[in-house]
Amino acid sequence: MSDNLADVKNILDKYNQNHLFSFYDELPSDKKAALLGQIKSTNFELILNLYRESKQNDNINLNEISPIPHIEKQSLSKNEIDYYTSIGEDIIKSNSLAIVTLAGGQGTRLGYKGPKGTYELKFVFFKKSLFEIICDNIKKTNQKYNIVLPWYIMTSQENDFATKEYFRDHNFFGYPSDNIFFFKQESLPLIDIDGKLILEEPYRIKYASCGNGNVFKVLKESGNLQKMKDDGIKWISFGGIDNILLKTADPLFIGLTVHNNYKIASKTIFKEQPLEKTAVFCKRNNHPTILDYSDITLELSEKKDENGFYMYREANMLSHLMAIDAVEKSTTFDLRFHRAFKKNAFVNKEGVKQVPDGPNSFKFENFIFDAFYNFDDMLLFRVNPDEEFAPIKSFTGIHNPDTAMDKYESYYGLPKHDL
Ligand code: UTP
Repeated sequence: MSDNLADVKNILDKYNQNHLFSFYDELPSDKKAALLGQIKSTNFELILNLYRESKQNDNINLNEISPIPHIEKQSLSKNEIDYYTSIGEDIIKSNSLAIVTLAGGQGTRLGYKGPKGTYELKFVFFKKSLFEIICDNIKKTNQKYNIVLPWYIMTSQENDFATKEYFRDHNFFGYPSDNIFFFKQESLPLIDIDGKLILEEPYRIKYASCGNGNVFKVLKESGNLQKMKDDGIKWISFGGIDNILLKTADPLFIGLTVHNNYKIASKTIFKEQPLEKTAVFCKRNNHPTILDYSDITLELSEKKDENGFYMYREANMLSHLMAIDAVEKSTTFDLRFHRAFKKNAFVNKEGVKQVPDGPNSFKFENFIFDAFYNFDDMLLFRVNPDEEFAPIKSFTGIHNPDTAMDKYESYYGLPKHDL
């Protein structure tokens, strides 16, 4: 046995992962080498620790929880809106805003083959992908202010190639391509309920992107954070790929944040039902964070402040604004990992690729909002979901392509597609 092979066998023995070698003997030599290399570069210690730690409950003491006050868009007067908007417009016009689109997710719930951003929606008179819809929204700002916003797109190992190819094939939707910057996030192995890493091919361990909170680390390591600084960027607007009503550069939101001296701000939507399965913003030990729905009691959800406002009903819609120094500070902390249970194809014991009926594997993810915990305060700005929130998550749940298109059509006064 070669030293290399012996080393790898030792690793697998040590971490109880010998199943990864089940098909090794039948592999051609290039695939053998690939598998050996991948096993050697896999951080088993990290992934197995995450798996073990994720089984322990993070018991939240509700005494540690306090609310983050919010501003409601509908409560602002016309004068206030004009005032804050003009502050935000000055920022946009001075070329100090960058857009970051978080498009590294797997999109397992939608189950669409290909990067989620390339999923196309068929409206009555046109067809547009999620990427093109976001692109159009940024282009509108560019046209209005006669600028070109730098557009940073985070991809993943799984979708980087296909995403770039899609943009090239569609001529970057007419966006100046030298102002689009792709950067690839990191990934981690997936692990099944028995603590075993899964194979996506007999010769390859399945890795998947490790959450949108990885954005800070990779913005820095890819050199893009430095590039932003060199280009005079002062503010970054972060958003997901799947909300087709996302306002990528909202001068009102920017103006409110700047005027009130915040470094971080998030748009929120009102959580209508007190026990709805939606996480909300709060402070824990005086630091901004998100309270998971499983930790929210009816009493907490119904709690109002002295002015009669609900204290824990501001839901996250993945639309964040951060000052560049807050982004830079966020690169210096390790964010915690959350465990998600997802459906992923795997190679079964017979060596055959199998698509499970439901979730079968754990994925460990950093979330962007966990970076906010490292700050003392942030602005929450509640917006109208009919104007700004039309996400696409799956074909069967409430956030499906039809519900999102319906909202989009109503907002833009478009004819309705057949439901
Ligand atoms: P979601 O939490 O909806 O996850 O991502 P997802 O991976 O897209 O879909 P599911 O859960 O597998 O069905 C919210 C946003 O964060 C991005 C997604 O692309 C989406 O825009 N994201 C998520 C990343 O950029 N990287 C990740 O690792 C995960």
